[in-house]
Amino acid sequence: MLWALLKLYASFMVILLSAIAIALFMTRKLNNSGQVPTQGGDRGENVGSWQLLSENAGISSMHAAVTHYGTVVMLDRTNIGASQINLTGGRCRDEADELTLRHDCSAHSIVFTPGAENPVRPLYIQTDTWCSSGQLNGDGTIVQTGGDFEGIMKIRRFWPCAPDGDCDWVESTKESLKMGRWYASNQLLPDGYTQIVVGGRNVFKYEFIPNPSSSPAINLPFLQDTADPQGDNLYPFLHLLPDGSLFIFANRDSIILDYSSTKVLKKFPTIPGEPRNYPSAGSSVMLPLRAADGYAHVEILVCGGAQYGAFLTPGQYPPASQTCGRIDVFAAEPKWEMETMPMRRTMGDMLLLPTEDVLIINGAQNGCQGWGMANNPALTPVVYNPRMAEGQRFTTMAPTTIPRLYHSTANLLPDGRVIVAGSNTHQYYTFTGEFPTELRVEAFLPRYLNVAYDNIRPTIMQAPEKITYNESFQVRVAVPASAAVTEMKLSLMSAPFNTHSFSQGQRLLSLQVLTPPSSTASSGGGEKVYIVSATAPPRPELAPPSFYMLFAVHNDIPSSTCKWVQLYRHR
Ligand SMILES: *[C@@H]1O[C@H](CO)[C@@H](O)[C@H](O)[C@H]1NC(C)=O
Ligand SMILES: *[C@@H]1O[C@H](CO)[C@@H](O)[C@H](O)[C@H]1NC(C)=O
Repeated sequence: MLWALLKLYASFMVILLSAIAIALFMTRKLNNSGQVPTQGGDRGENVGSWQLLSENAGISSMHAAVTHYGTVVMLDRTNIGASQINLTGGRCRDEADELTLRHDCSAHSIVFTPGAENPVRPLYIQTDTWCSSGQLNGDGTIVQTGGDFEGIMKIRRFWPCAPDGDCDWVESTKESLKMGRWYASNQLLPDGYTQIVVGGRNVFKYEFIPNPSSSPAINLPFLQDTADPQGDNLYPFLHLLPDGSLFIFANRDSIILDYSSTKVLKKFPTIPGEPRNYPSAGSSVMLPLRAADGYAHVEILVCGGAQYGAFLTPGQYPPASQTCGRIDVFAAEPKWEMETMPMRRTMGDMLLLPTEDVLIINGAQNGCQGWGMANNPALTPVVYNPRMAEGQRFTTMAPTTIPRLYHSTANLLPDGRVIVAGSNTHQYYTFTGEFPTELRVEAFLPRYLNVAYDNIRPTIMQAPEKITYNESFQVRVAVPASAAVTEMKLSLMSAPFNTHSFSQGQRLLSLQVLTPPSSTASSGGGEKVYIVSATAPPRPELAPPSFYMLFAVHNDIPSSTCKWVQLYRHR
C-alpha cells in the first residue's frame, strides 16, 4: 500500500517537474523567437540561432526565390483547396478543370518582405505550379516553368518590384514548353536570358526557353538510364561549369553535357551509397569558384539521400543517407571522395554561405520525399567547411523546433540570414497529426551573425550597381578601427530558385581582391574605410548575367548586408 502510494507520488512529481521544465523551455523559446524580424535578435550563439519571422504566411512554401529588392517570392500549387490568405482586389481563379476548387479566391503564391510590418502580399498564379522549376534571368526576372495539370507546359514570369509595389506573376500565352515538365530543373545560360530546362517525369529530354526557332526538345538518354522504378532521376542537379558545359547529376550518376552539340563530354563514376535525386532527395552544390586559382578548380558536393525502396514501402521509414560525395570535375581521373555527415538526412537543402561554407538544413532522418513518407525530422543544421581537412569539416548548429519535411524551402537573405518556410507532407492543407502543414516562416542565423563578431564585422559603404565581365572595380568597406585588417574577400552570390532540396542556379564566386586593402583616413565613428580593388568574373560562363549579392568578408565574418550588383554583358 505504502509502496503503491510512493510510486503514485513519484509519478506525480515526475509529471509536475516535466510540466515546469516544459513551461520554462517554452518561455525561453518564446523569448528567443518572439517578434524579432530585424537583425539583432538573439545573436549570442556560436552554433547559430533561430528567429520566427511570421506565424502565418498564408501558404506553405514549396518553391522560393529572393529578388534583388530583398523580397522573397514563394509559390505553392493551385489544387490544394483554399490557402490561408485571400487574393486582394476581388480576384479569383475560375478553372473549369480544377481538381479541388473550381472557384478559388485564395492565393497560392506570396511575396514575403522580411522585417516589414505586414510581410506578406498575396500573388496571383493562374495555372498549377506543382513541382515546377525556375531561375532568375539577367534582368532579375524570375522565370518559372511547368508544374502539373493545366500548368505543365506553362512559362510564367515575375518582374520584381520594391516591397510596396504591386508586381505579380505574368503567364505567357504566346509561348509554352515543348514538353510537359513536372519535376524538372533549370539553369540560366551565359547569354543571361536563355534557360535550359532538363528532365521531368517521363521526359528524357531537354529544351531551351525562350525558343524562338521552335526547335523540338532534345533527347538525353542519360535521363532514361538513370530512371528506376521509384524515379530517382527527377529534379536533376545542374551546375553550369566555367567552360560553359553543363554538369548533370541524376540518381547516382553524372555527366558533362555540351548542350549546344548535344554531346556527352564526360561520364563520372557512380557515387557510392543511396540514390540522391527525387524522391530520394539528397542535395548538391558546386563549391565556390575562386579567382585565386583562375576559377579553374571545380568541385561538386552531393549530400544525403534516401535508401532505395523507401518510396515503394510507405510506413517503413528506412534510415536516410549519412554520406556526402565530393568530386573534382576536371581531375584527370575524377572520383567521389566520400564523407560522413554528423547525422542522416533526406530532403536537406544545401546553401552556399558568404563565408564560402555550405549550410545543410531542413529535411528528415528517415524515409524519403512524398506525402507522409518521412519521419524523424532533421531539426539540426550542419555547416560544411570545404577548406578544412577531411574529418574536420562539419559543425553541428542549434536545432529549430519546427520540422521542415516535404515541400519546404531555404534561401539566403541579403543580410546573411537564411529564410526557411513551408513543409507540407499532405495532399491538402492539413493542420492535424504529427506533421501538420507548416505556415510559419523562420530565419536561421548562422554563427557569423553572433554579436561577438560585431567588432570585426565589415560594412559595404559603396559598391558599383552594375559591373561587366573582367571589369576592375572598387568597393569601399568600413571596419571597426580596432580590427587589424590584413585581408578582405568579396563573395559574389547568385539568388537561386529553391525547391525540393535543390537550389537551381546557385553559385558563389570568390573574387580576386588586392590584399591587404589600401586604407583611407578614418571616417570617424570608430571605423576605418578600406578601398578594396577587385575584378569582375572574366567570362559569363563563370557567372551568367544576373543580379548577385556582393558580400565583403573579413576574417570569415561577412558584411551585415550585401550590395546587389548587376553583372551585365555588352551586346
Ligand atoms: C477568404 O475568403 C473567404 C470567402 O469570403 C472566407 O470564407 C475566408 O475566411 C477568407 N480567408 C481568409 C484567410 O481570410
Ligand atoms: C581581362 O583583362 C585582362 C587585363 O586587362 C586581360 O589581360 C585579359 O585578357 C582579360 N580577360 C578576358 C577573358 O577578357
